[in-house]
Amino acid sequence: MTLPGVRIAGTGSAVPERRLTNADLEAIVDTSDEWIRKRTGIVERRIIDPSKGEGQLSLATDALRAALDDANMVGADLDLIINASVTTEMTCPSNAHRIAATLDAQPAGAFDMQAACSGFVYAINLADSLVRSGRHKAIGVIGCDVMSSVVDYTDRGVSILFGDAAGACVLVPDENPDRGCIHQVIEGDGRGWEALYMPRREEDVVEGATGENIRLGCLRMDGRGVFRFAVTKFQQVIELALEQTGLSVDDVAQFVCHQSNVRIIESAKAKLGLPDDKVYINIDHYGNSSAGSVGLCFDQLRKAGKIVDGDIVVLVAFGGGMTWASSVWRV
Ligand code: ACO
Repeated sequence: MTLPGVRIAGTGSAVPERRLTNADLEAIVDTSDEWIRKRTGIVERRIIDPSKGEGQLSLATDALRAALDDANMVGADLDLIINASVTTEMTCPSNAHRIAATLDAQPAGAFDMQAACSGFVYAINLADSLVRSGRHKAIGVIGCDVMSSVVDYTDRGVSILFGDAAGACVLVPDENPDRGCIHQVIEGDGRGWEALYMPRREEDVVEGATGENIRLGCLRMDGRGVFRFAVTKFQQVIELALEQTGLSVDDVAQFVCHQSNVRIIESAKAKLGLPDDKVYINIDHYGNSSAGSVGLCFDQLRKAGKIVDGDIVVLVAFGGGMTWASSVWRV
C-alpha cells in the first residue's frame, strides 16, 4: 500500500502589538542596548498585554485561524488540533480544546504538547505521521508561547531574550506520496533538564540554587550551558538531515531555525557554509519566542514568496527538556 503524501495547505502567525525594546529593559535591569544586540542580536520583542485579554489562548487561536483562512478551510474541516506550548493558561482543559471550541472544530480531537522551543517541530513531525498513516484528514498544528508570562523581569540573564509569538499550519493528505516530511528527528536528553526549567513549587527548585532570588512559575536558565549545547546540536541535526536525505545545501530553499540567539544561528551557518539568503533571521524584532519561532518564520517566509510549492525546507529547533528536533519537507 502506498501511503499518501502530506501538503501544507495553509500557514498563519500572530504576534502581539505591544513592543518591549532594549531601551525599555535598560530601565528595568542592569543591561544595555549594546550588550543585548551584541550578545543576542535582539533589538525588540513583542509581548502580550494581559489587560486586553491577550494570552497563549488568544495568540494561538489567531495563528490557527489565519492558517485556516490561508488554506480556504474552516475549523469544522479539522479532525485534530495540536497546540505546542509551555505557557498555556491552564493544564485542564487544554488550550487546544478551547481553540477548537472558538473555531467550531467539534468533534476534532485536541491536545497541548510540551517540548519547549522544539514544540512546533515536534508537533509538525507528529502531525505529518498521523496524516500520512491515513488516520487523520486535516490537522491544525500550532507552536505558541507567551514567554512574557514566565519571565522574571528582574533577571537580566533571561528577560532580555524572550518574546511572545505564534505560528501555525494546516496539514492535509496529498496524492503525491513524495510530498511532505521526508526526514524527521524528535529527540531529547532529560538528564540535562536543569539547564532550563520553570519551578512551580519550592521542592522543584534544584539543589544549590537556594539563596538566590527564585520566583516560582518563572523560567530559570543556565544561559551558557544552553548556548554550548545549542551550538553543537544545531550543527549536528542539520548535518544528519542532509546526510540521511542525500541532499546538499544547494538543494535546500530555506533552513528555518529556532530563533534562540543570533550567535547560535551564525555559528551553524559558518560551520556548515549556509548562505545568508537561506537562513532567515527575525530574532532582532521578535526575540526568542520558544515554540512560536519556527512557525512564525515559516509563515513569514511563505508569505514573502521565499518558500513555494516543491521547495525543500529544513526546520530545526532545540529547547528545554533538553529537546531537539528537525524536519525536512518537500513542500
Ligand atoms: N546585560 C549585561 N550584562 C549581562 C547580561 C545582560 N542582560 N546578562 C549577563 N551579563 C553579564 C554576565 O553577568 C557576565 O558578566 P561577568 O563576565 O562579569 O561574569 C557577562 O555578561 C557574560 O555572561 P554570559 O552569561 O556568559 O553571557 P553570554 O554571552 O552567554 O550571553 C545569553 C547570555 C544571551 C543568555 C546566552 O548564554 C544565550 O543566548 N544562551 C542560550 C539561551 C537559549 O537559547 N535558550 C533557548 C531555549 S529557551 C526554551 O527552551 C524555553
